[in-house]
Amino acid sequence: MNFAITPNASPVSAENRRKLLEDPGFGRIFTDHMVTLRWTADKGWHDGEVKARAPFAMDPASAVLHYAQEIFEGMKAYRTGDGQVVLFRPDMNASRFNRSAERLAMPTIPESLFIEAVKALVKIDQEWVTRGAGSLYLRPFMFASEAFLGVRPALEYIFCVIASPVGPYFKGGDKLLKLWVSDEYTRAAPGGTGAAKCGGNYAASLIAQAEAARHGCDQVVFLDAAEHRWIEELGGMNLFFVMNDGSIITPPLTGTILPGITRASIIEIARSLGMQVKEAPYSLDQWRSDAQSGRLSEAFACGTAAVVASIGEIVSSKDSFRFGNGVSGPVSQRLKEQLVGIQRGTVPDTRGWVQAV
Ligand code: PLP
Ligand code: COI
Repeated sequence: MNFAITPNASPVSAENRRKLLEDPGFGRIFTDHMVTLRWTADKGWHDGEVKARAPFAMDPASAVLHYAQEIFEGMKAYRTGDGQVVLFRPDMNASRFNRSAERLAMPTIPESLFIEAVKALVKIDQEWVTRGAGSLYLRPFMFASEAFLGVRPALEYIFCVIASPVGPYFKGGDKLLKLWVSDEYTRAAPGGTGAAKCGGNYAASLIAQAEAARHGCDQVVFLDAAEHRWIEELGGMNLFFVMNDGSIITPPLTGTILPGITRASIIEIARSLGMQVKEAPYSLDQWRSDAQSGRLSEAFACGTAAVVASIGEIVSSKDSFRFGNGVSGPVSQRLKEQLVGIQRGTVPDTRGWVQAV
């Protein structure tokens, strides 16, 4: 598609950008531009634009404001040692976006157009991709813009990509995560939207996340909705367990957890390093007893925002337990180094995961 490009007439100055990039935090600073596309039933995708980031003018009856037809993706642009800007497996984000779209009864977008839109933004805002340890977090999203209050799939949508330079997701840096197990709230049920990246899933998780914060925890562990027994995932990350025989367990994709791109990549990397990885149900009771017996040596959370973050302690309304030896374990470290190395061009990309912008 030919995107109409109208550069921001008053972009952030190089000096101010340099200051903002010193300590960006996560998701609070934004680049100068955005990319938008419109979809209508008669025209399909059209009106591709690259322009200054600005508020949307929205009709108060826009369907998204009432029935939450909204989906998004999370991906990053990295600067490699030789100064190139690259994306990590953007085809996986494009295909997951379309699976989310189908689940939310929204139009799909050709994968090539999704990637073209993301690249158009990265290109115009490439000065925002830091040279240090940070990256440029990209947030493609789509919402129902039709003004209509009847309950049915909307007939008009806006697709948009915005970008935010980011440092570590957790304020504590590499400090081990302390997780809260919610025994009251669940995130997703069989037949629901758990495997889709829709805003509604995150809205539903916030009360549990607030409860976690009140208990001094970084994130919530969600259990399955039917038995409140099986580990699913965190509010924004997948989970891995490393046993003392070196084998690894991660909960299977049964439709209630997000099929993470980091998760899929770590499974592949671990297997290619000769590690045994099982996608198998793992219960909270098992986690506790493996922690106490010493069978569990490491556990970590992973996702685009969080990368690989080691876990040190689990807290619930009934008890708490710890495992490992207070630092990120060797298996987690090795997997993180391989993943980050591929993303940043210091480990050879033998699988074609990295795409130059
Ligand atoms: N699970 C949830 C609920 C998430 O929001 C995310 C983040 O995107 C993940 C898992 C990890 O997915 P990915 O590795 O594709 O970023
Ligand atoms: C991501 O990792 O991209 C997410 O969407 C997770 C969110 C907690 C920022």
